[in-house]
Amino acid sequence: MDTFAIKGGVPLYGGLRVQGAKNAALPILAATILAGGSYTIYDVPHLLDIKVMLEILSTLGATYVHKDSTVHVDTTNLTSAYIPHELMGQMRSSIFLMGPLLGRCGEIVLSRPGGCAIGERRINLHFKGLEALGATIVEEEGFIHCKADKLKGNAVFLDYPSVGATENIMMAAVRAEGETIIYNAAREPEIVDLQNFLNQLGARVRGAGSDTIVVSGTKHLHSIDYKVIPDRIVAGTLLLASAITKGEIELHNVNPQHMISLLDITGQCGVEIEYAHDIMKVKSKKDFKAINRIVTAPYPGFPTDMQAQTMAFLSVAQGCSIIKETVFEGRFRHVTELNRLGADIYVDLNTAFIRGVPRLSGATVEATDLRAGAALIIAALAAEGETRVTEAYHIDRGYDTIEKQFSCLGARITRMENDSFHSTGI
Ligand code: EPZ
Repeated sequence: MDTFAIKGGVPLYGGLRVQGAKNAALPILAATILAGGSYTIYDVPHLLDIKVMLEILSTLGATYVHKDSTVHVDTTNLTSAYIPHELMGQMRSSIFLMGPLLGRCGEIVLSRPGGCAIGERRINLHFKGLEALGATIVEEEGFIHCKADKLKGNAVFLDYPSVGATENIMMAAVRAEGETIIYNAAREPEIVDLQNFLNQLGARVRGAGSDTIVVSGTKHLHSIDYKVIPDRIVAGTLLLASAITKGEIELHNVNPQHMISLLDITGQCGVEIEYAHDIMKVKSKKDFKAINRIVTAPYPGFPTDMQAQTMAFLSVAQGCSIIKETVFEGRFRHVTELNRLGADIYVDLNTAFIRGVPRLSGATVEATDLRAGAALIIAALAAEGETRVTEAYHIDRGYDTIEKQFSCLGARITRMENDSFHSTGI
């Protein structure tokens, strides 16, 4: 497993183009199954999760080329509806294949998905929605057998505004007969991007971005070319990394409208941010203030995917901050590792109490999940001395060669293959 070595205390300066959104690209790649044909999807970052999604499409019979952040994928000839366990287990998004495969082939055999260990991550709402459209789902001996001779539109109420369940049901509903209404739908920008993609295929989807989405089933769909929206979480990560190092950076390919809740928090802390069109300038020369209380919530609330990174940032703020995590019940594994770097954070149930410290100091820490790993890099960039972040693969799931991105901004960060790490006897 790779390790990142980071020498902290270096302010970040320079410009960087933000990668396309992982959490938009993944459902969109799954949706290419809905209509056979040849697609070109632009701004798809080179990530482990994208690689797994493309491997899944390949095992189903599709062909693809992923070069320079552009994916050419052809789903004309599907030869299988079975997803091997070893691929399902590598990420959460493998569950997104249920809707499109039901819509295209009328069946799918898979197992429960993997993904970041940040909570139970149930899939009951995915099943509830697909069964409402007429699918039968039987789980036995570790496999999920899902069939639907005919999908029929229906009304579905989501007990929780689940992002993945909303997307899965949208994709299946495109191929259902009649109208489907999804109540209490998730409102994330990635869902709006999926709606735009589906409508360009020839589908009729409306309401994404609100809590009610209406899908009218469509028989005739066709392949398209499409560009994925910017990654708001990567942009937020880079923003906080610049601020904690008291640097000054310019980010391109940013949509500030997707980042309002984070920008509100960083503004309260005293981080100076200017933005116009798709460019965002971040500068922060002075110490920043703590935030009394942040509560993560479904969009447009404060994103759970920015919780760990914000905690790292607030660990050196002036004063005490509180972060309450309401989306995932196990998303505080980065606290122990941040405290290893000298942070002063205490957790009580789903609430973290962060007492700002004057400085952090380098140590060896472990990335326990994708955003926890990103948080450790943010902290390491500000810490005195050298920090090593192990289990770097977690970070590679969501950040395209993160060491190159940060090196472009002047950070002193190197990736070490595990054997070279030991060979230099460090
Ligand atoms: C998506 O995961 C994102 N992943 C996650 O990003 C993100 O944290 C999450 O949405 C919330 O915004 C992708 O889009 C690939 P959910 P998803 O279904 O769809 C419960 C990252 O860092 N729930 O909205 O899995 C669930 O247990 C990743 O990029 C059910 O109870 O999230 C959780 O507590 C991490 N039953 C809550 O809802 C269900 O059937 C939110 O889950 C589904 C979910």
